[in-house]
Amino acid sequence: MKNNIHFLIKNHKNEFNVFYEELLRSILPKNELSKVILYGALNGGKRIRPFLIEIFAKIAGIPKKQYFLISAAIECIHSYSLIQDDLPSMDNDDYRRGKLSVHKKFNEAQAILAGDSLHDIAFELLSNKKTHSESEVRVKLIQDLSISIGSKGLAGGQSLDLIFENKKINKNKVLEMYKMKTSSLFSFCCSAPFIIAKKNIREIEFAKQYGNIFGLIFQIIDDLLDEISDFDKIGKTPGKDKKQGKNTLMKYIKKEKIIPFCEKKALHFINKNNKYFSKWNILKDNLLNVIEV
Ligand code: IPE
Ligand code: IPE
Ligand code: MG
Ligand code: MG
Repeated sequence: MKNNIHFLIKNHKNEFNVFYEELLRSILPKNELSKVILYGALNGGKRIRPFLIEIFAKIAGIPKKQYFLISAAIECIHSYSLIQDDLPSMDNDDYRRGKLSVHKKFNEAQAILAGDSLHDIAFELLSNKKTHSESEVRVKLIQDLSISIGSKGLAGGQSLDLIFENKKINKNKVLEMYKMKTSSLFSFCCSAPFIIAKKNIREIEFAKQYGNIFGLIFQIIDDLLDEISDFDKIGKTPGKDKKQGKNTLMKYIKKEKIIPFCEKKALHFINKNNKYFSKWNILKDNLLNVIEV
């Protein structure tokens, strides 16, 4: 349990949560839609993406006032994706983060509009001078995030996830879908602080690959938990993937082999990139910790 990622991020999220709530409240008008947006954004996420952003921001030496804005933008995108993911036309989930999902608490139309608004706030934040004084850097961040959440990334992966339901595919196709729906956003989380710090192209590329593998493992473990965990732990209805005919890695690899599969992937990546891992040691522990369930 000591190395469990949830244990590690628990102490990190409070300061960010205070910042994030104040920021959203300062941006949002006082209306009904804002209540829906705040419910979707502040209803108790783990904030693992801000945790990862902080690690890379500390390596890059960028100040909190900058990287908290990146984290806020990412959490807006993440919440938007979850609101959408839970809709009846997608995964049809009634619970999220231990509470009613947004469309259940309010209604479908308001949930869709709250998701849209959160998506837009992310770009409002990234285009703000406070994120970076140089417009070229801001445009690069906006461009990279757009690519990572669009049809080549998150949205494309979500589309495949639904298309693949009740179909026989193969392990590699599942991993490709995971990379798109989940890893692409993690990839941006890791590279954004390096882009802000103007690190060289090779280091930025390494950060992207790190996010990729981290996200992949995170999604694999999330799917494992869907099968082996319970509502109190995951805050969402367990056993749904099987019921809905989802194509998860669990369909192609035995339950007992999932953790060794992740460990092998992580160690292979660590060995291949020893140059960076020996310089930034924390990244190694962090990657191995995400495998703990
Ligand atoms: C859930 O993400 C969706 C996946 C990519 C598996 P998180 O597990 O980060 O969700 P919250 O923010 O903690 O609820
Ligand atoms: C979550 O995917 C949404 C994104 C990755 C965008 P899942 O459908 O696999 O995750 P949960 O189990 O609902 O959180
Ligand atoms: Mg889904
Ligand atoms: Mg889902």
